[in-house]
Amino acid sequence: MPNHFLEAAVEIAEQAGKILCEEMERPLTIAYKGDFDLVTQADRRSEALIVSRLQKYFPHHSVAAEEGSGKDTSSEYRWHVDPLDGTTNFAHGYPCFCVSMALARRKELLLGVVYNPIYNELFTAARGEGAFFNGTRIACSKIDALKNSLLCTGFPNHNREANPNFHFYWDFTLRSHGVRRDGSAALDLAFVAMGRFEGFWEFGLNPWDTAAGVVLVEEAGGQVTDMNGQPYVLGGPSILASNNRIHAEMVKVAAGLSEHAASAKEASIPVPRNRKKTKNLDS
Ligand code: IPD
Ligand code: CA
Ligand code: CA
Repeated sequence: MPNHFLEAAVEIAEQAGKILCEEMERPLTIAYKGDFDLVTQADRRSEALIVSRLQKYFPHHSVAAEEGSGKDTSSEYRWHVDPLDGTTNFAHGYPCFCVSMALARRKELLLGVVYNPIYNELFTAARGEGAFFNGTRIACSKIDALKNSLLCTGFPNHNREANPNFHFYWDFTLRSHGVRRDGSAALDLAFVAMGRFEGFWEFGLNPWDTAAGVVLVEEAGGQVTDMNGQPYVLGGPSILASNNRIHAEMVKVAAGLSEHAASAKEASIPVPRNRKKTKNLDS
């Protein structure tokens, strides 16, 4: 893969990160794409910069960007862009958000860049060339048991009651050191790549949320599948990423939960005490 693809992605992600920092200092303008799905001026300005730079450097490439300003060309190269992953965090001044960019050639992910401008944390990976954190090579953690692991997950901003994840969250919490919910899937995956977390899972993510993080995890020696342990498809219904060593255990736990959720009536699905059950949790 030409070096200039990764170099361009880093340059653009860092410029977009500057915009996010500038926007942090300005009055917040929030619009809603759904009941709880926020979009801010920061998302839009960041995306405008990224898309215009990509179009300048690689005019024939397709760009799929979350806020819709990308374009589809007939190129076999496609950029997956999340101009601000962690918008809810951004809107509340919680400094856990990033720019996420990945390049794919047909179905193969070639590179990923995830950049948190507040902490100046830059994660990069190119296929076959390893994963790096601020220029230093990184690897997934060596912990080999779920019970000794720190995990993370996330919950979608749309159709929240239909998401089965509360069951998984509860069960994985009891079986591990704990489960974090940091609000940025791209950073969650980057943290698996650098060993801060042993595993991450989520349902209903989009290609721009996961594409860069998938390359990071795989290049750091980790594994990425769906919740059934089958190959992960970008934009598929679920993702499970881990340091490899706890992957089979996580898949087994998830299988038990899915089976339980599918076969049990809602009344018999275990939910934490004091939490009111909602409809369609097992769909
Ligand atoms: C969200 C974040 C969050 C995840 C949500 C995503 P956004 O992306 O990645 O961690 O749980 O499912 O939608 O909306 O902040 O770009
Ligand atoms: Ca996102
Ligand atoms: Ca976003």
